[in-house]
Amino acid sequence: KRRIGVMTSGGDAPGMNGSVRAVVRMALHSNCEAYAIYEGYDGLVKGGDMIKEMQWEDVRGFLSEGGTLIGTARCKEFMERDGRRTAAKNMILNGIDALIICGGDGSLTGADKFRGEWPSLLEELVEKKELTAEQVAPFKHLNIVGLVGSIDNDLSMTDATIGCYSSLARICEAIDSVDTTATSHQRAFVVETMGRHCGWLTLMAGVATGADFIFIPEQPAKEGWEGGMLNIIRKHRAMGKRKTIVIVAEGAIDEHLNKITPTQIKEILSGAGLDTRVTTLGHVQRGGRPAAYDRMLSTLQGVEAVKAVLEATPETPSPVICMIENKIVRRPLLEAVAQTKKVAEAIEKKQFETAMELRDAE
Ligand code: F6P
Repeated sequence: KRRIGVMTSGGDAPGMNGSVRAVVRMALHSNCEAYAIYEGYDGLVKGGDMIKEMQWEDVRGFLSEGGTLIGTARCKEFMERDGRRTAAKNMILNGIDALIICGGDGSLTGADKFRGEWPSLLEELVEKKELTAEQVAPFKHLNIVGLVGSIDNDLSMTDATIGCYSSLARICEAIDSVDTTATSHQRAFVVETMGRHCGWLTLMAGVATGADFIFIPEQPAKEGWEGGMLNIIRKHRAMGKRKTIVIVAEGAIDEHLNKITPTQIKEILSGAGLDTRVTTLGHVQRGGRPAAYDRMLSTLQGVEAVKAVLEATPETPSPVICMIENKIVRRPLLEAVAQTKKVAEAIEKKQFETAMELRDAE
């Protein structure tokens, strides 16, 4: 029987539990054994109790729970070769030669590196007499499959990452609440949203809440943006709007790559005579129950991930499970990560239009 490991890594995202549930149950359905690796790569390096065989009922109730019930961590040891060698040893001791990881681009790249090093890690384990040649012999190849779990929706080649629609819903609910108090007092609010270097959450929240103005990293604010923003806000006020909402992504920048901060925007709005407050939504955006979309996405992608493991050959590049135009598809993991990096590089080089095109490309 194949033994498949599943883990969540990096920042938690609503829907990660749904992917663990789907992987476990699809693995069992496919006559494999399923193992949960607790606390991300930390659990893989520590081994022992952190690697636990899962049965059908162990993931009951997972679908609707937020965060990740098997834990996640940012693991320093796994960044070092010694840590990865210990991780390989723990996998072999548990008979696991396939790993499905739900996490962001950093976690997925780490996994692919692990796969590349796998044969030499096994050699080292034998050389150092940590395992015998007989013990490592059946584990020639490591299969890695990525599931993108992140609220940021920042990975190229997929339309949606697991968690982004739950986070978007939470941001909209929060802004709806801010709206009522803003309208009562005729105030302006600057709302800061998460997303790291990606403006997707902010852009979509802006559309979904009818915000007056947004700031996102992909479209840096041009010289004179202060006046442009005030003109739009004054126009809205002149039409009878009693509130002003400006949403600023945490990665927002101007065309000189200087960070645009909520306090900076508050000062401009206050200077124009608006009674202004700042609301930082923080980790509320990442917590709580997954939206229906993320339950569905994580389930379909978890099923596909197990299929990808069972169909993989030693030559198949590690896949990442994506959603493109409403279809669950596989893409080469490293290509998706490389494309994502190109967006960040284009922004650093101030090639903003190229960055937008790259982000839109499949
Ligand atoms: O990647 C998810 C995310 O929530 C980003 O939006 C944010 O920049 C970052 O993680 C916050 O990380 P931490 O939880 O370590 O503060």
